[in-house]
Amino acid sequence: MTEFNIAEMRKFAGLSDGDAALLAGMKPMLEKHGPAMVASFYSNLDQHAHLRNLLDAKPGRREILGKHLLAWLLSLASGSYDTTYLEQRYVIGQRHVEVGLDPRWVIGAMSYCRGQVAPMVEAEYGGAADQSQRVLALNKVMDLDLNIMLQSYDDKRMDMFLETTGFSKSLFESMIASAGAD
Ligand code: HEM
Repeated sequence: MTEFNIAEMRKFAGLSDGDAALLAGMKPMLEKHGPAMVASFYSNLDQHAHLRNLLDAKPGRREILGKHLLAWLLSLASGSYDTTYLEQRYVIGQRHVEVGLDPRWVIGAMSYCRGQVAPMVEAEYGGAADQSQRVLALNKVMDLDLNIMLQSYDDKRMDMFLETTGFSKSLFESMIASAGAD
């Protein structure tokens, strides 16, 4: 794994301990609304034939993925965003590379999730003084997830390229550096 210091990235993004506590407190909200969100997530994907085909490429995949997605959603509220959390997210990104899914679909899907959680907060905490802080905390943790998943995309794709070509990582990096030089 490329150096990815999750504590550093959390600090950089401003995902504070207060945010972590707010997130942990929203687990019941995610448990309550999560199943409906998972159903709507896959309805959104189903509008695109190639995504639908990917979901149906193996018998039972869709059902298993629904469980994975719900578990993912609930773990946003784990309240603990440490190296274990990092490793779990990293694997998710790698898996999407393995199934041939371009990152733009994951980024779009994360946007979709943001659009789903904001109304949940409105339903459960509408009018509360910390309502917007709760939405912001959810957005920060989703950004953290996206950050990790995109890093794993980058690493995995590079590993696949190096394996296929036999290039060393340092040769590849010096080629990129010289291509980017003025
Ligand atoms: C917010 C965005 C997304 C999240 C959080 C997410 C979450 C996950 C998780 C937790 C897994 C299981 C990883 C593992 O095996 O350890 C997974 C696998 C997978 N996801 Fe996603 N996903 C997202 C977007 C998408 C999109 C847009 C598609 C498009 C069809 C997709 C299709 C798949 C497929 C095909 C697998 C592999 C299933 C298998 O191993 O049989 N995902 N995803």
